[in-house]
Amino acid sequence: MRLSRALALTTLTILAAACEKRTSVAETILIGHVGSLTGSEASFGTSTENGIRLAIEDINAKGGIKGKRVAAKTYDDQGKPEEAAVAATRLITQDKVTVLLGEVASSRSLAMAPIADANQVPQISPTSTNPRVTKDGDKTRPYVFRVCFIDAFQATVMAKFARESLKLERVAILRDVGSDYSVGLADFFSKKFEELGGTIVSDQSFKSGDQDFKAQLTTIKGKSPEMIYTTGYYTDVALLARQARELGIKVPLGGGDGWDSAKLFEIAQGALDGSYFSNHYSDENPDPRIQSFVKRYREKFGGTPDSMAALGYDAAHVAFDAMARAPDLSGPAIAAALAATKDFPGVAGVITIDADHNAVKSAVVLKIEKNKARYVTTINP
Ligand code: PHE
Repeated sequence: MRLSRALALTTLTILAAACEKRTSVAETILIGHVGSLTGSEASFGTSTENGIRLAIEDINAKGGIKGKRVAAKTYDDQGKPEEAAVAATRLITQDKVTVLLGEVASSRSLAMAPIADANQVPQISPTSTNPRVTKDGDKTRPYVFRVCFIDAFQATVMAKFARESLKLERVAILRDVGSDYSVGLADFFSKKFEELGGTIVSDQSFKSGDQDFKAQLTTIKGKSPEMIYTTGYYTDVALLARQARELGIKVPLGGGDGWDSAKLFEIAQGALDGSYFSNHYSDENPDPRIQSFVKRYREKFGGTPDSMAALGYDAAHVAFDAMARAPDLSGPAIAAALAATKDFPGVAGVITIDADHNAVKSAVVLKIEKNKARYVTTINP
């Protein structure tokens, strides 16, 4: 008994050594991930990381890419653009990654983009929606891509929904002036809502991390809007929603994909019931591809995958698909293959990369009911 156990152990050790040898550095494709694993947007980075890990599991189960296994190296940027830039540089120069995945937030992707371009290492953002992420002035950044739609589109979706479905005439804006995403989305929404004949009755600001929104909310209340469109991320939005209710503001809030987090509901405690936001996908979509992803994710990580999880998964698979099609694994070859991505079947929609390196895809509108985001409709570009 003891002998056979010792033998088994020795065999295991040898096997492990052999495995290690087989997956030596040269035979592993290393991809880098930069995400907010801590800080007030910790769910963004964590969900994305989970999605990426699932995708790596898939590809290695299929034998990897060009006969090589895939592995990921991840750095936490704590939700800070300057840390995202440091992480991108470290992944490229020290870890020698083939591709960079990240960031979720536009301000952090914007900090990484010039580094990706300068080093000719492709960067794929799963969910950064600010148009400038893939742009250097008027020109498309050769090495920067995303697998999501842009804010001009999701703002149009919500402006139309507010005007045409909800028949609203008066909306107030509450924007995070420290976030490229928030400012851009608020601008796009205002423009579209007014074009459609609506009125923006007030446009107020805050900064991420603020704890007291009462002054802005009191001003807004005085203008009696029918909705407050607020483009912050989940922590701020949930907190300001509670304060709005404390002040007796009863109208729904509206927003964008930045609301998407299970934490939104934990913090809001029902204050967002009756509110609407645009998003990349809904876990309630009965599409079998989505449902099997949701099931697998639940089994592995517990909890429902949010859009960062789904798009992190899609971003990784789009990278793998491009690496498989590229003649070699150099940055220029992978970037050319990424640019040629067409009809790639992601869990959060079919991905075709356009000339601006954006994915042209549909958006969903979700309504919060009993502290849960329910699917309302899908809007095509
Ligand atoms: N679109 C947001 C940005 O660009 C990030 C985000 C995506 C947040 C999806 C939540 C869900 O900053």
